[in-house]
Amino acid sequence: MPGTGWRFARLTDIMATLIFKPEGVEVQAAEGETILDAALDGDVAIAHDCGGNGICGTCHIIVEEGLETLHEKTEEEIDMLEIVEGVTDRSRLACQCEISGDLVLLIPPE
Ligand code: FES
Repeated sequence: MPGTGWRFARLTDIMATLIFKPEGVEVQAAEGETILDAALDGDVAIAHDCGGNGICGTCHIIVEEGLETLHEKTEEEIDMLEIVEGVTDRSRLACQCEISGDLVLLIPPE
């Protein structure tokens, strides 16, 4: 049956729910996708001046829920966050975080 393979592949995608605050926009994203890509796919306005290369810090987000689902920060992410304003102990760079579970995220004011 035409299309069966595609449907099977889509059904095997593991999805996560991301909520972007303060607007509260909900986005469904595939695990392994970056938070930045999921935000852009969901038409969430999030700065990304370097195009997701981890060298500008403009995609700073605060992870309100689900921080434990994210991998540890790399040295490069830690270094970049040191020069970003308003950083908290729950801050991450959206372009450097691969999704592996549900998240509630706050986009801080610029
Ligand atoms: S988009 Fe530049 S650091 Fe994430």
